[in-house]
Amino acid sequence: MRVVRLSLILSIVVVISAAMAWASDGRVNKSALGLFWSTGKEEGELLRNSQPAEPEALDDNNELDGGFSSLDGMLQWAIGHSDPAKLKEGAKSVQRLSDDDLKRRQIEIKELMEKLKMPSDAELMKVAIDDLNNSSLSLEDRLRALEELLTLVEPIDNANDLNKLGGLVAVIRQLDNAEPDVRKLAAWVLGKACQNNPVVQKQVLDFGILAKLLEMVKSDAVEEANKALYAVSALVRNNLNGQENFYAEAGDLTLKDILSNSTFDIRLRRKCVFLIGDLAESQLENADQAELPFFRDHVFLKAIVNLTSSDDLDLQEKALAAIKSLLQLRTIDASALKDFCALDKALERMRLQLQQLMEEEDQSDYAKDVEILRREVELIFYKKLNKGIQVPT
Ligand SMILES: *[C@@H]1O[C@H](CO)[C@@H](O)[C@H](O)[C@H]1NC(C)=O
Ligand SMILES: *[C@@H]1O[C@H](CO)[C@@H](O)[C@H](O)[C@H]1NC(C)=O
Ligand SMILES: *[C@@H]1O[C@H](CO)[C@@H](O)[C@H](O)[C@H]1NC(C)=O
Ligand SMILES: *[C@@H]1O[C@H](CO)[C@@H](O)[C@H](O)[C@H]1NC(C)=O
Ligand SMILES: *[C@@H]1O[C@H](CO)[C@@H](O)[C@H](O)[C@H]1NC(C)=O
Repeated sequence: MRVVRLSLILSIVVVISAAMAWASDGRVNKSALGLFWSTGKEEGELLRNSQPAEPEALDDNNELDGGFSSLDGMLQWAIGHSDPAKLKEGAKSVQRLSDDDLKRRQIEIKELMEKLKMPSDAELMKVAIDDLNNSSLSLEDRLRALEELLTLVEPIDNANDLNKLGGLVAVIRQLDNAEPDVRKLAAWVLGKACQNNPVVQKQVLDFGILAKLLEMVKSDAVEEANKALYAVSALVRNNLNGQENFYAEAGDLTLKDILSNSTFDIRLRRKCVFLIGDLAESQLENADQAELPFFRDHVFLKAIVNLTSSDDLDLQEKALAAIKSLLQLRTIDASALKDFCALDKALERMRLQLQQLMEEEDQSDYAKDVEILRREVELIFYKKLNKGIQVPT
C-alpha cells in the first residue's frame, strides 16, 4: 500500500515531465495549451498560487514528517526524489508515514492532479470548433483543427457530442471552403463521425447536405471526391432514411456516371462499387420494400459487369461481391445479365484469369478467395437463369 502511494507521487512527476515535453516540443498549439493548464496561467504561476507557500515548505528535514505544507513543496520533493538513489531513500521515509499522513498525502496528490488536469476530449473539440468558426484563421490552422477533430470524433461518445458543441455546423460550413483540402477534411470528419452511428447519421442528414456531398464526389480534386464518397457511404449505410435521401438526390446516377467512366480515380470506383453492393444488400435485408428500378437498369448492370475485366483485382472482387448481392434481388433479370451484360462470358474470363493467378506464389491465396466468390456468383447466376426451365438432373 505504501509503495502504491510513492508510485502515485512518482507518476505525477512522470505526468508533469511528459506534459512539459509535450508542450515544449511544439506539438501542441497555443490554443490547446491554454486549456492544458486549465487556468491558462504559466505552470509556475499555477503551482505557486495553488496554496500560500510556507517558508519551511522546501525544508528537507520538514517535508517527510508532517506532510507537505504546500503542493509546491511536494512537487519539489517528488522531483528531487526521482533520482534513483534518492528514490530509495524516499521509499524508506514514506514507509515510516502513518496512515493518516498517507491519507493526507493522497488528498494533496488528488488536488494537484485536478489542478493539472488534462483537457477533456470535449474541451479539445471545443477549441478545434472555435478555431474552425474563426474566419481569420490561417489555412494551416484550419487544416490542423479539422485533423484534430478527425481524431477526436473516432470514439462514439465524442461523435455524439459533436453536434451539441456546435461542431457539425462548423464542419459543414467548411464544405464550402475554397480550398479542396479543407473540403476534403470536412467531409472526412463528417463521414467518420456518422460511421455506424445512427444518432449522428440522423443529425447530419437533417442538415440536408447529401446533395452537396454528392456534388463533391464528382470533384476534380481526387482526394476530395474520395472523402466525399466515404461520407456519403457512411451516411446511407444501414440507414433507410439516408438511402431515401440518397435516391431522391439522384445519388444512383452519380454512381452510374462514375462506374461507366474509367477516367475516374480507381479508388473512387472501388468505393462506388462497394457502396452499390451495400445498397443492394440493404434491399435484400428489407425485402418488404419495393426494389428500386436503379438496380435493374441494364446500362448500370453492364457497367458493373464490365468492372470484372478491370486490371485491378481489388475492383474485380468488389464488382463480383456487388453482383452477388444484385443477383439475389427479386426484380433482377438473369437473362438480361446474360444477353445484355454478358455475365456468363465475364465469369468465364475471370475463371481463366484467376486460375493463372493461383499459379503465381504471391497472388495465390488472394486469387483462391476471389475464385470462391466467383463460383458462388456463378452458382446463383445459373440457378436464377435456369429457373423456370426444367433442367434434367
Ligand atoms: C501551432 O501553431 C503555430 C502558429 O500558431 C504554428 O507555427 C505551428 O506550426 C503549429 N504547430 C503545429 C504542430 O501545427
Ligand atoms: C481568430 O484567429 C486569429 C488568427 O489566428 C486570432 O488572432 C484571433 O484571436 C482569433 N479570434 C478568436 C475570436 O479566437
Ligand atoms: C460559430 O459562428 C456562428 C456565427 O458565425 C455562430 O452562430 C455559432 O454559434 C458559432 N459556433 C460556435 C461553436 O461558436
Ligand atoms: C468521364 O469523366 C471525365 C471527368 O472525369 C469527363 O471529362 C468525361 O466527359 C467523362 N466521359 C464520359 C463518357 O462521360
Ligand atoms: C463496357 O466495356 C466495353 C468495352 O470495354 C465498353 O465498350 C462499354 O461502353 C462498357 N459499358 C459500360 C456500360 O460501361
